[in-house]
Amino acid sequence: MYYIGVDLGTSAVKLLLMDGEGQILKIVSKEYPLYFPHPGWSEQNPEDWYAGTMAGLGELLEDCDKDKVAGISFGGQMHGLVVLDREDRVIRPAILWNDGRTGRQTDYLNQTIGKEKLSACTANIAFAGFTAPKILWMKENEPDDHKKIAKIMLPKDYLAYKLSGSFCTDVSDASGMLLLDVKNRCWSKEMIQICGISEEQLPRLYESYEVVGTLRPGIAAQLGLSRDVKVIAGAGDNAAAAVGTGTVGDGRCNISLGTSGTIFISSKKFGVDENNALHSFAHADGNYHLMGCMLSAASCNKWWNEDILRAADFASEQRGITKLGENQVFYLPYLMGERSPHNDPKARALFMGMTMDTTREDMTQAVLEGVSFGLRDSLEVARSLGLKIQRTKICGGGAKSPLWKRMIANIMNMKVDVIESEEGPALGGAMLAAVGCGEYPDVETIASKLVKVIDTVEPEPELVEKYEERYQKFRKIYPTVKALF
Ligand code: XUL
Repeated sequence: MYYIGVDLGTSAVKLLLMDGEGQILKIVSKEYPLYFPHPGWSEQNPEDWYAGTMAGLGELLEDCDKDKVAGISFGGQMHGLVVLDREDRVIRPAILWNDGRTGRQTDYLNQTIGKEKLSACTANIAFAGFTAPKILWMKENEPDDHKKIAKIMLPKDYLAYKLSGSFCTDVSDASGMLLLDVKNRCWSKEMIQICGISEEQLPRLYESYEVVGTLRPGIAAQLGLSRDVKVIAGAGDNAAAAVGTGTVGDGRCNISLGTSGTIFISSKKFGVDENNALHSFAHADGNYHLMGCMLSAASCNKWWNEDILRAADFASEQRGITKLGENQVFYLPYLMGERSPHNDPKARALFMGMTMDTTREDMTQAVLEGVSFGLRDSLEVARSLGLKIQRTKICGGGAKSPLWKRMIANIMNMKVDVIESEEGPALGGAMLAAVGCGEYPDVETIASKLVKVIDTVEPEPELVEKYEERYQKFRKIYPTVKALF
């Protein structure tokens, strides 16, 4: 049978068709606009996601045997606030995961309600991009629209709703709303009360691999698919990517170098970092995970190449970079503020340390290194919890760069396992669909059967030492300049 994985990303939706043996048959991608209506704000139109997904599905299924399609599932950009009124109309554009407008509401939650209380209810504290502070923001700033809210959902759940009619979400994505009691995988009544909403406004909770319904008849007809095609809950994009890279079960690590940068550590046991610098979320395999999230990762490289250098060929910009560990230029990657570990929506990017002989290559190198150092900040938090992480998988657009993988291996001092397919969330979505349809008994089994490591980038002792010295300087920059942001 065939399974479709939909990765609802920030720059595009990627759709992937996989057969039961894990062969990827086709991948289609459709872009849509991203709006920055104010500095630090970030929005998208849910209707654009849906239109892109439907157009992409049409193209994906063009020349395949449609009778073989059994299920569809998702990996979606997390935390975005999607609000519908009683007639199921989208009330306002979705406020995305990298939107920093909720500083006031985040402070209210962390300081007035208190981090201890939030952590006890949800296993997490408030970060500007999380969903709950956005609901409070709407209440304060758009009270008329706020009163119209009948349904609150996350980005991929809007697609599931449009496709199946099921008002649903999954526990991994719901973890990032700050409304879920993560440990017990149910809505937190206290948080619902604190946010002034009711449980009826929230979707029904599922595990990521559970069936939420079948295609609406009209959708099935439009796509030429059977009405029996199952829709499976899916996961937040990081949990879906972890499934796609085999980061399931206990103590495995995945790094995603997408628009955001994340370090994801799977765990069979529920656990909370006492400073809540890392997120403690439910995983798509039925267990848990810890995660650090940088708001700008591959997007720093995209911004630097496309907007500043006006260069389209990222690989050729990296070709002249040869002096690893010796670059004197530092770059702070906070183009949209920063989430982990600083929790500072006001933080901004900067270059530091240039001299008259600094080259274009040095600046490009600094950008790639700055993002890697930023990820190392989260790894340090994980290490301080006693987690011994010796190797990681890697996925996302940035993972296509051999140079960047080498930097990660040496800056983190970890082996980087390269897998056959770096498709992450789209593949994870298709794998969750295969589990939901019963082709595999559970997520760990499908991951162990389908995910193949094809190469390993080893840390090089001399570079590890050089980068250690650079990192110790890097980590002093943010605290030094913080007051200026
Ligand atoms: C995770 C996060 C990002 C988005 C990107 O907490 O905010 O990784 O999910 O799509």
